[in-house]
Amino acid sequence: MRQVWKLLLLASCLTASFAAGAQDDQAPGQAHANKGASPRAELARQPPTLQNIYGRQPLSLNGRWSYIIDPYETGFYNYRRQPFDQSPTGAGGFYDDRKPKDKDDAVEYNFDGSPTLAVPGDWNSQAARLEFYEGTLWMRQKFNAAPKDGKRYFLYFGAVNYEAHVYLNGKKLGSHKGGFTPFQFEVTGRLLKGENTVVVKADNTRHQDDIPTVNTDWWNYGGITRDVLLAETPDTYIEDYQIQLAKGDMGRIEGHVQLAGARRAQDVTVSIAELGVKTTVRTDANGRAAVSIALPKNKVRYWSPEDPKLYNVTIAGATDTLNDRIGLRTIETRGHDILLNGKSVFLRGISLHDENPLIPGRLRGEGDMRMMLQWAKDMNCNYVRLAHYPHSEEMIKLADEMGLLVWAEVPVYWTISWEKPEVYANARQQLTDLVVRDKNRASVIIWSIGNETPVSPVRTEFMGKLADTVRSLDRTRLVGAALEVHRTGDVVTVEDPLADKIDLASFNQYAGWYWSNNKEMMKFSFKVNYNKPVLVTEFGADALGGYHADTDTKWSEEYQDQLYKNTFKLLDAIPGLRGMTPWVLTDFRSPRRPHPYFQDYWNRKGLISETGKKKQAFYTLKSYYEQKQQQYK
Ligand code: GCU
Repeated sequence: MRQVWKLLLLASCLTASFAAGAQDDQAPGQAHANKGASPRAELARQPPTLQNIYGRQPLSLNGRWSYIIDPYETGFYNYRRQPFDQSPTGAGGFYDDRKPKDKDDAVEYNFDGSPTLAVPGDWNSQAARLEFYEGTLWMRQKFNAAPKDGKRYFLYFGAVNYEAHVYLNGKKLGSHKGGFTPFQFEVTGRLLKGENTVVVKADNTRHQDDIPTVNTDWWNYGGITRDVLLAETPDTYIEDYQIQLAKGDMGRIEGHVQLAGARRAQDVTVSIAELGVKTTVRTDANGRAAVSIALPKNKVRYWSPEDPKLYNVTIAGATDTLNDRIGLRTIETRGHDILLNGKSVFLRGISLHDENPLIPGRLRGEGDMRMMLQWAKDMNCNYVRLAHYPHSEEMIKLADEMGLLVWAEVPVYWTISWEKPEVYANARQQLTDLVVRDKNRASVIIWSIGNETPVSPVRTEFMGKLADTVRSLDRTRLVGAALEVHRTGDVVTVEDPLADKIDLASFNQYAGWYWSNNKEMMKFSFKVNYNKPVLVTEFGADALGGYHADTDTKWSEEYQDQLYKNTFKLLDAIPGLRGMTPWVLTDFRSPRRPHPYFQDYWNRKGLISETGKKKQAFYTLKSYYEQKQQQYK
């Protein structure tokens, strides 16, 4: 049954003539489809994603989407393997959503009669025949629109894993690579008055030259895994802004605003009514202005896990206004100390994947996310390591609200094709998209440029450039990565040329699991020769929830629990230890874990099982963190 979504943009729907007038911010040649373009319409603009799109009350296109499984990409290529959308007419693919003209017209696909799946949502967890599926799935949604003169429209995807080709009303908008970061197309002038059809070709096939590569320890959940939104803006709109405390200065906000559109040069006022502060800036010819606001003494409630205060910030120009809830805090390092608002903190953390263990699959919405973050708080955490890729914007906003510091990461994971410029460009783009999206979130204190990447000159150059990229985008936060360690006998040395480019001595270690066992692991010691805060970004052991045995029997809860107790002793001996994020909050799916009884394609290092059962080590970590909390009062 076709579901037609009513898009109530505003009651008044003017005639469907669009403001297709040349926007001087259009790149040359970026004509709108309806401006007499060739039969094969020009691709849509993919402008920088709107900052705070949720602040625009966008229309959600979430819901049940019809889908077609297409492992041979029959809906994309003709039988000579030429893309239909590159043909002179651009037609022929499943994106035409074609119906038979009459009884002698054999169309070999039909969205109307196809099954549906929930968007947002990976496909692997929604149909048995898709559990291990890697390939192309076509998805279609229909919705009504009432576009108006003088307004601009953006079709936004929170994430599609891994490669997306997007079509609106049979015409290609464009494509995107990268499974965890948002992208959007300007569809001004392409929206029809009345019913519209959006079709997405999503392909989660892994490739060695992608970011991540073919080699990961997590499930390759494919599809439209985050929100799909249609936003309306004025002709000249607020495209981006950063409003944060200046680096190391608790008395001043420093940032910028960026407008887009014909009237980019205008006065913009940034105000925080609750603090009685405001400033008006004049954007330049490119639409950009720096923002600097002095804050009243002894009046600001600085954001912290103990007091996650968010202020309503209003950004008002002549043509557009946006509100956002922003926390004010500083984060720095000084020698071995991590200073939050000038005070040394210990990061009582836990690592987690973007996955719900109870209903396996990517986190679907606020309910899932709140559950995961509450489990972390139940464990007395003040910090989470959102591994190994950008989690959703919703998740980060919840961390802001619930008071959890965040390590955010791009999936530059293990064996990347370091020597290829296009691979670096992909990594840089994903990192840029992450920083642009979340740079106003107080909870985010660390941008991580990768995890356990094998040391080589080309790798260290690649990662060093990523670190430079982060700093060019955001001077206020720390840069991290899980550095490499090496063992000489019983001494574990953290020694990695990449350390010079990041702010932390952060590393993973698996004494007692991959290295030795509970009986012998106390022989290990750690050498960390950096005058930086030490963060142990991973340690842990697999335990099948409910499997009980002695503390020398691997896979048992007792083994995992004893390993945690042993590990605390080993790590507390490290001078400069300022935090940890044991691996991992909950059991999670992984194709690398096939043991039929202990794993069944689950990585069992969770402190909570896939039935939501807290294992013994959960309570051990909780009480260790209670001690740390007292120590850092
Ligand atoms: C690695 C890696 C994780 C992986 C874990 C494990 O260090 O960072 O992604 O899941 O160890 O082996 O369980």
